[in-house]
Amino acid sequence: MQDKFYLTTAIDYVNGAPHIGHAYEKILSDVIIRHKRQITDNAYMLTGTDEHGIKIQKTAASKGITPKELCDENFSKFEQAWKELEISYDQIIRTTDEKHKKVVKQIFKKLLENGDIYKHSYTGLYCNGCEAFLSAKDLTEDGLCPDHQKKPEEITEENYFFRLSKYKDKIADYIKSHPNFIRPASRVNEILNQLENIEDISVSRTKSSVQWGIEVPDDDTQSIYVWIDALSNYITAIGYDVENPSDQFKKLWPANVHVIGKDIIKFHSIYWSAILMSLGLPLAESIYAHGWITLDQSKMSKSLGNVIAPHDVLKAFNLEKPDAFRYYMASAAQTGKDGNYSDDDFKEKVNADLANNIGNLLNRTLNMLVKYFDGEIKSEFVTNKDSKIAILAANSKEQIINCFNNFEIAEAANIIVAFADNVNKYVTENAPWTLAKEGKMVECGQVLYNVLEAMRHIAIMLYPYCPNIAADILTQLDEEQNYKYDKLVWNGIKTGKITEKDKIKPVFLRLDSEFATDKKKG
Ligand code: MSP
Repeated sequence: MQDKFYLTTAIDYVNGAPHIGHAYEKILSDVIIRHKRQITDNAYMLTGTDEHGIKIQKTAASKGITPKELCDENFSKFEQAWKELEISYDQIIRTTDEKHKKVVKQIFKKLLENGDIYKHSYTGLYCNGCEAFLSAKDLTEDGLCPDHQKKPEEITEENYFFRLSKYKDKIADYIKSHPNFIRPASRVNEILNQLENIEDISVSRTKSSVQWGIEVPDDDTQSIYVWIDALSNYITAIGYDVENPSDQFKKLWPANVHVIGKDIIKFHSIYWSAILMSLGLPLAESIYAHGWITLDQSKMSKSLGNVIAPHDVLKAFNLEKPDAFRYYMASAAQTGKDGNYSDDDFKEKVNADLANNIGNLLNRTLNMLVKYFDGEIKSEFVTNKDSKIAILAANSKEQIINCFNNFEIAEAANIIVAFADNVNKYVTENAPWTLAKEGKMVECGQVLYNVLEAMRHIAIMLYPYCPNIAADILTQLDEEQNYKYDKLVWNGIKTGKITEKDKIKPVFLRLDSEFATDKKKG
C-alpha cells in the first residue's frame, strides 16, 4: 500500500469562466485521485485559481470593477463547475488568499537572501497572453507569440531576476536520472533542448505596469511576477513556511504528480524545479503534461467564440449526473496526446460503452437471475477463481493499476470496456437462456454468477470515472458502497436473494439525438 499520494492541478486564470479544456484537466486529475483513494487512505488533491496579473487587472478595468471583484465572480464559476462535475478535490487555493500571499513573500525573500534573485535593467519582448518575456527565437516567422498569435510588446524595465541559468545543469541531470519526472517521457528531449538555452528570468514587474500582484518584500515599487506566485501554490496551500513548515506539508511534500497542460510544462519542469532547488526542497515525483482538447477539431478560444462550458454539455443532453461527460473526457485522448470534443462522438461513445456494453450487461443478467432463480444467487453457483472470467478480472485489475502508474487514463478506461466486452462474449457463447431451457440450472446459475461478479468488479474499476453509475451498479447488486481495490478479489459478491423485478433499472440511459439537436439550436 502506497503511504500517501499528493496530486496538484494547474491553477486556472480567473479572467473568464471555465470551459471544457479546463474541465478536461480537472476530470483527469479527479479520476487519478479517486483511483489512488481506492489504494491508499492518504490521497490528497489540490486545485485552485491563479488570480494575479495584468490580464485580470485589464479585464476588471474594462468591466469597471475591481480586480478582486472580478476574481470573486469568476472563482465562484470555477467552484460551481467543479461541484457539478463532482471533482472531489480536498482543497482549492486562491492566490489572493492572505496565507498564500504571506508565504510567497517569504519565498521571494529567501531566494533573494540565497543570492538567486538580483535587480537588473532589461529590455524584452513581453507577451500579455503568456504573462512572460519571450525570446526572439520563440516567435513565429511573423514575429508573433506562437500560442497567442499576437505581437509581443517591447518593454524596458528594472526588474528582479531569478538566476535560472545557475540551475541549468542540475536540472538536466535531475531529469536524466529520474525517468519518471517528465511524463510522458516523449517530452523529455523538448525540455532538455529548452534548458540548453535557458536564461535568467524576470520575476517582478514595476508597480506602474502591474499593480495587481503580490508586493515585493521591502520594495513597494515592484510586484512579484505571476509565475513565482502561481507555482508556489503547490507548497503554500499545504502549509509551507520558510521557518516553520506544517505537519501536513511534511507529510504530503514532495507532490507525487503535478497534472498540467502541455503548454506550461517548461514553467513546471524548469522554473519550478529551480525555485525548489533554491529553497532546498525536493522536486515532485512526476509532472504529467496532458494534451489539449479541441472542439470539433478547432482550437477553442474566447476570441473565436467557440468555447463551451461543461455545464452547457450536461444541460444540452439533459444529464443530471456528470458521469457520461466525465467518462468521455477522461477517455478523449491517449496519454499526453490532444483530444477532441464533438456532440456526435460524445453520444456515440457513451451510448456504446456505458449504455450498450456495461448497462445492458447488468440489466440482462439481473433479469435472468429474477426469471430463473427469483433473484437469488445460490451457493452452488459460486465459481472457481481460476475460471476464465475470474482470470480476466484479475488481469484487468493489474493492467489498470499499471496504466494509472503511467497516467494512462484513457487506456485504463479501455481495459474496463474490453473486459465488459469479453464478459458479453462469454454470455453469448454460454447462452444461459439455452442452459435454462435444457434444465441445466446449476450451469446456468454459474454463468450468471460469473457475470454478476464481473459486474461488481466493473463497478469498482469504473468508479473513478463514473462514481454515480458505479454506485448504482453496486446498489442493484445489493453490495455495500466500498470501492477499495482490496475488494477486487473473486467470489466477493454475496450469495442469497439480491434483487427482484421492480428493483432492476438501467444504470445509464442512451442519449437521445434530439438533445444534441436542441443544443445546436440553442
Ligand atoms: N494559471 C496558469 C497555470 C499556473 S499553474 C501554477 C494557466 N492557467 S490557464 O487557465 O490558462 O490554464 C489552466 C490549465 O488548463 C493549464 O494546465 C492548461 O494547459 C489547461 N487548459 C487550458 N485550455 C485547455 C484545453 N483546451 N485543453 C486542455 N487543457 C487546457 O495556464
